[in-house]
Amino acid sequence: MQSVLITGGAGFIGQNLVHAWRAARPADRLVVVDAMTYAANVRSLEPLIADRSIQFVKGDIGDAALMHRLFDEHAFTRVAHLAAESHVDRSIADPEAFLQTNVLGTFTLLKAALDFWQAKAMIERARFLHVSTDEVYGSLDFTDPAFTEASPYRPNSPYAASKASSDHLVRAFVATYGMPALITNCSNNYGAYQHPEKLIPLMIIHALEGKPLPIYGDGSNIRDWLHVSDHCDALMNVIEHGRSGETYNVGGGNERNNREVVGLICETVDAAFAADANLAARFPSCPAASGGSCRALISFVTDRPGHDHRYAINASKLATELGSRCSVGFEDGLRRTVHWYLDHETWWRDVTSGAYKAWIDKNYGFRIAV
Ligand code: NAD
Ligand code: TYD
Repeated sequence: MQSVLITGGAGFIGQNLVHAWRAARPADRLVVVDAMTYAANVRSLEPLIADRSIQFVKGDIGDAALMHRLFDEHAFTRVAHLAAESHVDRSIADPEAFLQTNVLGTFTLLKAALDFWQAKAMIERARFLHVSTDEVYGSLDFTDPAFTEASPYRPNSPYAASKASSDHLVRAFVATYGMPALITNCSNNYGAYQHPEKLIPLMIIHALEGKPLPIYGDGSNIRDWLHVSDHCDALMNVIEHGRSGETYNVGGGNERNNREVVGLICETVDAAFAADANLAARFPSCPAASGGSCRALISFVTDRPGHDHRYAINASKLATELGSRCSVGFEDGLRRTVHWYLDHETWWRDVTSGAYKAWIDKNYGFRIAV
């Protein structure tokens, strides 16, 4: 039985991890800490909070007193650290918050964990998993081999630089203090509960509402799409069975360019409307409601500055050492994701009211058709 802290547990991957952990390891005690930024949503966790399957704490990982108090109260033996500012476009518009949370917040959390585990002589049996991104490795050309754990760090966005800094801090804590930490660097996740400012949910929701589907630049940028359930399985495997001090890359083995991804979303939404006559009444502005295709909504707009061309992950270390392999193919995962958003309209309508509209104006208002 472990006492587990999950930071950022009300975010996209965090919520999925909390549910996956609860199901896989029912004996563990789970505490979630989350600052409840714009990206957080606690609704899916409410039943677990109500029946005391988890304890939820609203708080900032940069609050040293709170972090020390939580360690004293719960004597955590596992930390899965996911709390972060996570959106590249927001890091371009407003980078400060990324340094505060991703760098200083990670430092504060690391220090609280180390202080507690040293004081209680728990270093040997404790584990700290730092969840990071492939974006720290920079951008690949189309013919380059995929990123390995030995690839040099070359971050290009303020987000990637802040995550790279946090990875370096974790590495330094391992080398200097013997911190029992592991790092995972994963590719783009998709699936249930992803905030609709990210590519896949944004395109699904815009398609349903008959709004333009804004592809940055010429849409040739490639990402390696990882279903969030495969990612969560890998995280639980790494924290338990990975070698302390090591880094593991986690990838989906699903490289697609943005034109392909958006095209597939359009086909999937079109097919859903063809199969279910009720959808036309629920989403009358969607082109598929009147027999057309969502592809008509695709528009190419001003590119993101510093837009990385390609990410690709070589996940063979994870497969060879720990036996973790992805099981969700991209077409299947995307179909499941489109249907999740169709089935959770109330969830995304809530998330896209209020401040979300201001973000859409800020990020898309200046972009022109190219
Ligand atoms: P997210 O933005 O959906 O969720 C992040 C969560 O962290 C939110 O609930 C937010 O409220 C919380 N948070 C932010 N600042 C905090 C603070 N100071 N204290 C406590 N909580 C705070 O992000 P996500 O997509 O779930 O990503 C989770 C982790 O995985 C991040 O570290 C991210 O860098 C990493 N990652 C994500 C992806 C992806 O495709 N989503 C890919 C690679 C790596
Ligand atoms: P995103 O989901 O923001 O993830 P990341 O930047 O971390 O990879 O974007 C994924 C890709 O989709 C990226 O190449 C940028 C592109 N993109 C668009 O073309 N249009 C959009 O509106 C968004 C949000 C992203």
